[in-house]
Amino acid sequence: MIPQRNRRVILIQRPVGIPQASHFEIVESPIPELHSGQLLVRNEFLSVEPAMRGWLNATANYADPVAIGDTMRSFAAGTVIASKHPLYAEGDRVMGMLGWQEYAVTDGKPIRRKVLEADLPLSYSLGILGINGVTAYFALTEIGQPRPGDTVVVSTAAGAVGSAVGQLARIAGCRTVGITGGATKQQLCLEKFGFDAAVDYKSASFETDLAAATPNGVDIYHDNTAGYISDVVVRRINKRARIICCGTASVANWDDWPSGPRIERHLLNKAARMEGFLIWDYEHRYEEAVTRLAAWLRSGQLIHSEEILEGIEQAPGAIATLYRGENRGKLIVRLDHSAE
Ligand SMILES: NC(=O)c1ccc[n+]([C@@H]2O[C@H](COP(=O)([O-])OP(=O)(O)OC[C@H]3O[C@@H](n4cnc5c(N)ncnc54)[C@H](OP(=O)(O)O)[C@@H]3O)[C@@H](O)[C@H]2O)c1
Repeated sequence: MIPQRNRRVILIQRPVGIPQASHFEIVESPIPELHSGQLLVRNEFLSVEPAMRGWLNATANYADPVAIGDTMRSFAAGTVIASKHPLYAEGDRVMGMLGWQEYAVTDGKPIRRKVLEADLPLSYSLGILGINGVTAYFALTEIGQPRPGDTVVVSTAAGAVGSAVGQLARIAGCRTVGITGGATKQQLCLEKFGFDAAVDYKSASFETDLAAATPNGVDIYHDNTAGYISDVVVRRINKRARIICCGTASVANWDDWPSGPRIERHLLNKAARMEGFLIWDYEHRYEEAVTRLAAWLRSGQLIHSEEILEGIEQAPGAIATLYRGENRGKLIVRLDHSAE
């Protein structure tokens, strides 16, 4: 049966710094009738990304900000429940930029892909087989260019991207060192994600702990945080090190960018390379990454961890949850449609 009502999370106030639940509101609206060329998706999982902070920020970024009153932009995964679109049929599993809402009426353009991995959970298409895994794969292979024996250091190592980078680097034969916040996440890095060493950046001994964990220096640094963590790592880079600039999770307010140690001397002395990474540059190669990641999942070489929040009511506060570091792995919101 086609549902009549949709619940959506809309932006009501533009945040400065980390978006909080109070910046959003959940509204209910009718689901419009499908026109020719449209389809209706029942969203089952909503993604939560650190990048959503940028999608809400009015200052210059790589995407236009979400407008006040609009449904929050996000990846979501779900099932097609009605279709007047030639490429999609009822029952297809899809993922794409479908928004923080229970149902999406779309012309198909926001859909990134049909999810064809029927043996793997649909939610994985938002994490290890989605933006996080694909980011880890291309950032590491294209910019990091790992070689067996390299030491690879990763920040936000217990998170979705970081845990994947660590595991892919291990598969490539590297020594892997994860940086994360707190002893519980350190254990997670070692015991679940198989890092060779894990260092707590919140500890007073962070700098000496990192030195002990990287006795041969750092060949690749996958940087998801910027800030103090990166200042410490950059001091340990080796000749011809590669620094992947992938995220800035430690910088709370982009309008008040902190000044820090200058890194030019380290780059120069070590003939090192630092390069920004944007997943959007690799959209045309998405399937290549998904195929390889799915194969590693099936063989057990790669594991994926999820932190699941239940119900759309949890979505407005979920970005702040990420920035408090409360997630162990990919943060997603599961929608319950059982009562419909
Ligand atoms: N460039 C791209 O195309 C691209 C694509 C996808 C993701 N990314 C970036 O990749 C990074 C990780 O994304 P994700 O989705 O995998 O998120 P995630 O790592 O699952 O979650 C974010 C993590 O950031 C850490 N964090 C929060 N505040 C911090 C602070 N002040 N200092 C240091 N760490 C802090 C927390 O881990 P701890 O508890 O360990 O601190 C938190 O769990 C983000 O920076 C994101 O923007 C970039």
